[in-house]
Amino acid sequence: MDSIQPGAIDPAKLDAFLTRAVGDLSAGYGGVMVSIGNRLGLYKAMAGTGPLSSRELAGRAGCAERYVREWLGSQVAGGYVVYHAISDTYELTPEQAFVLANEDSPVFIPNAWAVPASMWFDEDKAVEAFRTGKGVPWGDHNGRLYCGVAAFYRNAYRGSLVSEWLPALDGVVDKLRAGALVADVGCGYGHSTVLMAQGFPVSHFCGFDTHPESVAEARQIAAEAGVAQATFATARADEYPGTGYDLICFFDCLHDMGDPLAAAAHAAKALAPGGTVMLVEPFANDRAEDNVSPVARLYYAASTTLCCAHAISEGGRMVLGAQAGEARLAEVFRKAGFTHFRRAAETPFNLILEARA
Ligand SMILES: C[S@@+](CC[C@H](N)C(=O)[O-])C[C@H]1O[C@@H](n2cnc3c(N)ncnc32)[C@H](O)[C@@H]1O
Repeated sequence: MDSIQPGAIDPAKLDAFLTRAVGDLSAGYGGVMVSIGNRLGLYKAMAGTGPLSSRELAGRAGCAERYVREWLGSQVAGGYVVYHAISDTYELTPEQAFVLANEDSPVFIPNAWAVPASMWFDEDKAVEAFRTGKGVPWGDHNGRLYCGVAAFYRNAYRGSLVSEWLPALDGVVDKLRAGALVADVGCGYGHSTVLMAQGFPVSHFCGFDTHPESVAEARQIAAEAGVAQATFATARADEYPGTGYDLICFFDCLHDMGDPLAAAAHAAKALAPGGTVMLVEPFANDRAEDNVSPVARLYYAASTTLCCAHAISEGGRMVLGAQAGEARLAEVFRKAGFTHFRRAAETPFNLILEARA
């Protein structure tokens, strides 16, 4: 306090900022409640039922009523559940159910809380990385990270990939319908690969990722979905096998790589003549001062401990971070020999960019 001059604090500004900071703290506590409600099936047990007492909900979900009642209190306090005081009952509105209970919804949020859960778990690694400047490989994080990221992005892929993003690329859907060869680089759990394979059954899809556990999970997800024309292999973005790809995709991974230019250059060599790169990156504007929003805050945080940390672990020749913006991404592809680069589509969470040689 000694360094703060008397009268320097504006009480109204202090109040406004404190309200903001306490709101954020409250949201952090609330995230634990969302995750618990999701894991125990409490939201699903409320969806579409109309008002329920805490006892009825506990019975439906097979949980202890006293815990459920307290949890419901937290949900009402946060605006996640409606409370009817006269009947002492609780209700999930259709909108709340769409976000909290429906796993097929493109805006299903609860699984995404696994990402900050993993970031808290690995806080010591982040602190050490800040002090030493060393990297933290993607595979060194707490296991909740991988399914959290996959679940977060799967929403958008389900909602838009086949119906909007691929059609926004020049001539790609026609090739996919006729039978194309596709690489999904940095595929992670392969939700994008599987969705594309389901949408275009005569094309073949090859998922590549450096994280063997994710590749194993992708194989299992594809098998469970009954998708036969998707194969997965552990490989780096600048080394995966094959040429003649009609489409090479990077979903939320180019900025994680230690040498994105080498990845783009490898794609240039692996593409068939007339082939296309689809680059899906976190939404960002080009200037830091324009990246001030809840979405940018979320991405910068993940970028600090996950994306930059992984890129540095891979040598960090170019550490783009998750808020690189279209201009810097275009520059990577221009240097790799691509002559066409454009924004094909965008959402509040993603930029969908097209590169062609
Ligand atoms: C944020 S995850 C995205 C995964 C997936 N594409 C998705 O959208 O859910 C980034 C992925 O890039 C992979 N990755 C990082 N560096 C890589 C590299 N040099 N070559 C191939 N994959 C890489 C990571 O293992 C991780 O699975």
